[in-house]
Amino acid sequence: MDIINTNNLGKTYLHKDGKVDAIKNITIAVEKGSFVTITGPSGSGKTTLLLTLAGLIRPTSGAFSFLEKELTHVHDCELAQFRRKNVGFIMQSFALIPYLTTIQNVMMPLALNKISKQKQKEIATSVLETVGLENRLNHLPRELSAGQQQRVAIARAMVNSPSLIFADEPTGNLDPMLAVEILDFLKEINEKNKITVIMVTHSPVAAAYGNVKIHLDKGEIKSINEKIIK
Ligand SMILES: Nc1ncnc2c1ncn2[C@@H]1O[C@H](COP(=O)(O)OP(=O)(O)OP(=O)(O)O)[C@@H](O)[C@H]1O
Ligand SMILES: [Mg+2]
Repeated sequence: MDIINTNNLGKTYLHKDGKVDAIKNITIAVEKGSFVTITGPSGSGKTTLLLTLAGLIRPTSGAFSFLEKELTHVHDCELAQFRRKNVGFIMQSFALIPYLTTIQNVMMPLALNKISKQKQKEIATSVLETVGLENRLNHLPRELSAGQQQRVAIARAMVNSPSLIFADEPTGNLDPMLAVEILDFLKEINEKNKITVIMVTHSPVAAAYGNVKIHLDKGEIKSINEKIIK
């Protein structure tokens, strides 16, 4: 079954210095449980594609759907609901809230879902155990190593049991050993928890983790699994 479908998806940014066609004619079908990697030169539209598929920015042309439900023109609140229920997002810069502790950062998405504080703590603690941070619950981000911060970010992305995890260069700031550890971990939750992962990366090592490898150039799909599209 497909979890995501797009049809000629496009995003044009309107900027005071002129229009930018960041992505165009993106037509893909992502099967549930896939591990998708997106590569391409800087400025080729990778982040734009990720943000669009995650419902964080609106496409300007074409259509996209989640489990066969069209999301292109739904109301903002419905799109927000889609994100809350189904999407986990991991950014390159971790994007942890600096004045919240490990456990508080991980509880954040649950607070948005109206779950009791006690239950939030239980769920967050168990997810933090999965990423090996059960003894860092009350540390602030600045009191953690880079790899630990990235694991907090992964725990936060997983905590609401999303069906999709989007990751933008999740290992960009990590040393190669740590990067492999994080990638192995993403692969494990992909396989064990059947979470579909869509990951942007510059690294060939990271890209090799994908079973669907999309390469972008100038906003368009150049190849899928090394098969040239145009
Ligand atoms: N908010 C914005 N307004 C206007 N133009 C934008 C905006 N965001 C991105 N762009 C432009 O859209 C194009 C695609 O940007 P995007 O961030 O998707 O690239 P990328 O492939 O993720 O690059 P990188 O590898 O450097 O992160 C770029 O030319 C960029 O300048
Ligand atoms: Mg980017």
